[in-house]
Amino acid sequence: MLTDSYKEIAAFYDEFVGVDQYEHYVRKKNWLIVALAVFGYKKEDGAFLDLGCGTGINCVYLAEDGYTVTGVDISESMLEVAREKSRAKGLDIAFIQQDIAELSLSRNFACIFSRETLTHLLEREQLVRVFRHCWDHLQPGGLLLFEICTAFALKLQCIKESLSFKKFIWAHAGRFQESDSSALIDYTFTFHDGRKVVTSVAFKAHTPEELSGMLRETGFRDVRLFDTAINPEIVNGGMTNRVQLRPVLPTVKAIQGGMRGILCGARKP
Ligand SMILES: C[S@@+](CC[C@H](N)C(=O)[O-])C[C@H]1O[C@@H](n2cnc3c(N)ncnc32)[C@H](O)[C@@H]1O
Repeated sequence: MLTDSYKEIAAFYDEFVGVDQYEHYVRKKNWLIVALAVFGYKKEDGAFLDLGCGTGINCVYLAEDGYTVTGVDISESMLEVAREKSRAKGLDIAFIQQDIAELSLSRNFACIFSRETLTHLLEREQLVRVFRHCWDHLQPGGLLLFEICTAFALKLQCIKESLSFKKFIWAHAGRFQESDSSALIDYTFTFHDGRKVVTSVAFKAHTPEELSGMLRETGFRDVRLFDTAINPEIVNGGMTNRVQLRPVLPTVKAIQGGMRGILCGARKP
């Protein structure tokens, strides 16, 4: 069993990712909505599975919108928050505790999606295993859709920085290893009453070429990658988000330096 690096922060994860603003942005034009539209996916196509659903931000949004959703996460603490939110909203979402590298569910899905989770798989073989499990859990014609951060984004997170939130100060600093594009990042949350929560999270980045190679190797087709330049802007006290999806072109090496996220979609024929 892998370590649950989210255990200590599950209780305030939503605050930390700014869920109010986030939900607002999710409801506008988030990566998932844009991506589903790009791939032509609708709720009528069948059930959706969220890999590494965390506190269920995306699951709740989709279920509220009438999608049939299952969420899987390794962290029981994150799932508890997700279940509570789902209960409070009267939604019917199955939240299941599993390691996605060992994914085994008793049903198939029209779409499997994952946001900011696959970067926690630290070996190439683990990621390939997840892609194989996705293949096994997708209906023919099903869509795999995920967002994963780049080496550039990890390097930024490794730079020592602190940010002030309503209830705590969030600080991060880490070590990036060029040889395998991995990073170990320490996060410290210092609450205004003096309480400190410290956690270390390990990440690994992959290039667009590596990702599309692994997906094709697994059998996926119609593999498309996009540069997710999500530029939140505060306008008149509210948040608007311009979500731009730029196809990752052969010139990707030239632009990769500034690319923070890769949105990847692939279809099981
Ligand atoms: C950054 S959070 C993202 C949560 C959610 N997808 C979101 O968009 O808010 C990453 C999540 O991946 C989960 N995770 C990491 N490794 C996992 C694994 N091997 N199997 C299942 N979940 C995993 C963590 O517990 C955490 O909830």
